[in-house]
Amino acid sequence: MNATLRAATLKGHDVELTWSDGRPPATLPLIWLRDNCPAGQHPDTRQRLVDTFAIADDIGVRALAVDAAGRKLEIEWADGGGVSRFDAGFLSALRFNPDVLPVARWSWNRDEMTGHVPSVAHAAFMSDETAVKEFLEQVERVGFSFVEGVPATPEATQAVAARIAYTRQTIFGGYWDFTANMEHKDTAYTSMRIGPHTDGTYSLDAPGYQMFHCLAAECTGGENVLIDGLRIAEIMQRDAPADFKLLTELAIPGQYIDEGRGIHLMARRPLFRLDDSGTLVQVSYNNYDRAPFTLPPARQRAFYRALARFDALCNDPSLQHRRRLLPGSVLLFDNWRVLHARDAYTGYRRLAGVYLNKEDVESRLRSLRSRAGEAV
Ligand SMILES: [Fe+2]
Repeated sequence: MNATLRAATLKGHDVELTWSDGRPPATLPLIWLRDNCPAGQHPDTRQRLVDTFAIADDIGVRALAVDAAGRKLEIEWADGGGVSRFDAGFLSALRFNPDVLPVARWSWNRDEMTGHVPSVAHAAFMSDETAVKEFLEQVERVGFSFVEGVPATPEATQAVAARIAYTRQTIFGGYWDFTANMEHKDTAYTSMRIGPHTDGTYSLDAPGYQMFHCLAAECTGGENVLIDGLRIAEIMQRDAPADFKLLTELAIPGQYIDEGRGIHLMARRPLFRLDDSGTLVQVSYNNYDRAPFTLPPARQRAFYRALARFDALCNDPSLQHRRRLLPGSVLLFDNWRVLHARDAYTGYRRLAGVYLNKEDVESRLRSLRSRAGEAV
């Protein structure tokens, strides 16, 4: 949230800022203020033009002032470098991790999700940017949402995806649309049960989001399951901290092999990937695609114990949101957070969808929030 400034005080080589809303003071080094001077940015591209490395470590100021309304900080530099003017809004919105969208995440279980499944209407989604913003904020908040009332056609499905971001190209192509056949060497192309997993554990940059649209469901069974990886992380951190820690540290390899097409993808990362402030960034789990790897025997056994605990939680019905996907309902879910699964089915089922990149969807939401005057 933005705040206005109460005062700016020089403390050695730093400036301490105090705020009208009483939040804790912020301390910014003078070198940082010179480096991030708004006038040192290209006005169109917003790229830094300041020569960072020409700024002296001990750069000094001649004058420091906050305007009467608390909306501006002015710094007159002692080296003849002119005056830097900062908006209080810019200074108060600074964060250690500016890449993390400021949308509160709500973790959930089956009962908490029942009756609270988020959705937006197709007509609004296609015509009103506010509905796209609401939809993407729902996805950030709980990890998934539905666009309801979508015509059950490939064209309408692709138009919903294109409203968010461009489709990611992978070994499976871009937009996919399939029934049970073995077009690709993957259980997704059969009618078997598929246990909880995330896609792309073999990809260095696993797909950020997946969209599903069931274009035909003349079958029995085949219910889809969504599981909140964030809630499982919270449960494990509380109830099994050693297992949780191991799964944040140990990089697990995934692979995808299709020798006929000359494909052998591999990547490796922890099941729970945290950022440098300890926030959960990504859940990666696909036991089908785990590649053989070795560890010292005691660590290997500890790994199996931790993995079994995680898998048992994924398969706990009280943590699963179950829903039979039907024509008209387009599901988008965060593949870095929500695990998905599917029951076995008999009959005819046609499922279509796309992958979207994490950065492109986040970019779309940042831009929509910024245009609405909200923090990004
Ligand atoms: Fe999958």
